[in-house]
Amino acid sequence: MRLAGKVAVVTGSGRGGGLGEAIARRLAAEGATVVISDIGGSKDAATPDDMIGGTAEMQAIAASLPNASTFVCDVRDPGQVRALAAHAVAAHGSLDIWVNNAGIGYILKPLLEVSPADWRAVIDVNLSGAFYGLQAAAEIMIAQGTGGRIVNIASQAAKSGFPHAQAYTASKHGLVGLARSAAVELGAFGITVNNVCPNHVTTGLGAWQNAHFAELQGVSVAEYLQRMAARIPLGRPGLPEDTAKAVAFLCSDEAVYITGESMNVSGGEETH
Ligand SMILES: NC(=O)c1ccc[n+]([C@@H]2O[C@H](COP(=O)([O-])OP(=O)(O)OC[C@H]3O[C@@H](n4cnc5c(N)ncnc54)[C@H](O)[C@@H]3O)[C@@H](O)[C@H]2O)c1
Repeated sequence: MRLAGKVAVVTGSGRGGGLGEAIARRLAAEGATVVISDIGGSKDAATPDDMIGGTAEMQAIAASLPNASTFVCDVRDPGQVRALAAHAVAAHGSLDIWVNNAGIGYILKPLLEVSPADWRAVIDVNLSGAFYGLQAAAEIMIAQGTGGRIVNIASQAAKSGFPHAQAYTASKHGLVGLARSAAVELGAFGITVNNVCPNHVTTGLGAWQNAHFAELQGVSVAEYLQRMAARIPLGRPGLPEDTAKAVAFLCSDEAVYITGESMNVSGGEETH
């Protein structure tokens, strides 16, 4: 129960089987009260219903946890993100942990086919959304004066390039710089800012990517996943729980002296 008494917000945690759900479950298992937050429904072409967490799904996840509430928030809107941070304090008394997990990775196209709208759609969620979250959380944590933990779910794409993923890769590399810069400013307040960089995980988003890249390589999804496992030193793709454990560690007192880092959780596939 390393996180007993802590209040945590996890963005994009309302889609079943996602990293956000696993992170929320792990933080709750370690004693934290958790706000499950997600976009709640399609808002536009960049957020199709079959790729996002709906309100009912979000509520079901929260209902299965001992101490949790829900809050609908589109992370592209700084006002909604501030409202989410305020909800944590109003409903649960404080804000100690903020996890920027919301992300989209299903707008993948060859370089020359990427439109300005495609580019903005990805950056708006993955990078700007994380910045709004970091800023809203830091403001409250500084005022509380009790330190805090901010963790971004970046990716292996924060360290290496991938085809059809220019905006995704740029957004995740951007989180590396964001954490480094914020860590310098927030250290004086006892607030740490770190990234976790998972390799591939077959979540809802991951399954879509499996199908996309298998087709690109002209192989079945099973063959694609077999090839992936073969190049990972620990012999398998990631699981949501692998990322969740790393997040819980970074949110615990054990990680008190770690900030500005981008930690790989990749079975040895990514080593820089
Ligand atoms: N699955 C992987 O292989 C993998 C690997 C590395 C990093 N990641 C990152 O992990 C995070 C979670 O991805 P996942 O694989 O669990 O996918 P997922 O689709 O299950 O989760 C993403 C969540 O973000 C939410 N979301 C999307 N747009 C939003 C918005 N505008 N406002 C609020 N919420 C929004 C979705 O509703 C969904 O619940 C993402 O940031 C992703 O880039 C995933």
